[in-house]
Amino acid sequence: MILENYSLKQCNTFGMDVNAKHFAVFKSKRELGDLIRVAKDSHWEILILGGGSNVLFTQDFNGIVLQNKLQGIEVVKKENEWVWVKAAAGENWHQFVLYSIENNFAGIENLSLIPGCVGASPMQNIGAYGVEVKDVFEELEAIEIATGETKIFKGSDCNFGYRESVFKQELKNKFVITSVTLKLKNLNVTEHYHFKTTYGDIQTQLAEQQANELSLRAVSNAVIAIRQSKLPDPKDLGNAGSFFKNPVIEQVLFDKIKEQFPLIPSYPATENFVKVPAGWLIEQCGWKGKRVGNTGSHARQALVLVNYGNAKGSEVWQCAKDIQQSVLEKFGISISPEVNVY
Ligand code: EPU
Repeated sequence: MILENYSLKQCNTFGMDVNAKHFAVFKSKRELGDLIRVAKDSHWEILILGGGSNVLFTQDFNGIVLQNKLQGIEVVKKENEWVWVKAAAGENWHQFVLYSIENNFAGIENLSLIPGCVGASPMQNIGAYGVEVKDVFEELEAIEIATGETKIFKGSDCNFGYRESVFKQELKNKFVITSVTLKLKNLNVTEHYHFKTTYGDIQTQLAEQQANELSLRAVSNAVIAIRQSKLPDPKDLGNAGSFFKNPVIEQVLFDKIKEQFPLIPSYPATENFVKVPAGWLIEQCGWKGKRVGNTGSHARQALVLVNYGNAKGSEVWQCAKDIQQSVLEKFGISISPEVNVY
């Protein structure tokens, strides 16, 4: 069923109250195929929405929004210590992580509590606490909008990078991801697994939990506790997680900036490049916890922009641009948004 002038307020975690000219939900690939045909015949622009946790709507959408509700998780193959799990794109990502933990399948426990759907995970190569989805990615299935054909993408076809993939670049809006298959370690048949606990506060958090033995559950709980302590719950305060990407800059430029700002933190990136936490840069510019009208930078994590209620997308976007300008003026570093702005 296609709805007209539908409010997207409940469909995006920023809570932006904009309308989609047309809106429909699809629960099967067949329904999706039918909707794509209607949209093409009517010359409507198509926007696929999963959990709506990485978008900022600044205006009404004039085409059709299709909400992905494809469901189902299945083990498709087991071999030696590995298991391949295929999840439909409309499954909630965190529920999928919980499924993997319950079944003793390892690899995505560090990605606990990331909002959004399975289908969005390869799109921007979600990552947290030292793990990215590309590390466990096997393949995905997607429908090409132009032809209606199903295509399989292996990891090498996806051009994964830091919060990047081919689906944010040259194939943007050209495919609808329908399922994702991950290759996980089956801890029911092996005990050899290297837990990733070196990132940030995980060790401290595990100690606090008095988790004497490492387990998928313990690591997941640690990640959940850290996220809950820093990141606002969209149910209480509209947001889309990190608004900006952490900039990757040349080592020589970094060294120069460090002369003036000796405390600037960094992580190694590719050769001759370093990654700088944008949250630190934004905080140094005095934005952390600063409120501008109905929006601003969050008090516990400067990288997150929030909606204090009734904020307009354009207001958040203006605040984002002001933050970008401050960082550019103070450090000569240009930071770019991680969220998709419409
Ligand atoms: N920092 C500050 N002030 C702040 C925030 C951060 O100084 O207000 C500095 C601190 O030096 C801190 C460092 O930044 O040690 C890193 O902070 P944090 O561990 O919170 O991570 P992040 O780099 O700010 C990234 C991801 C998050 C992910 C965390 C943990 C991006 C854009 N963001 O944030 O992902 O949860 O690492 O791995 O890469 C998201 O993408 O939506 C997201 C929440």
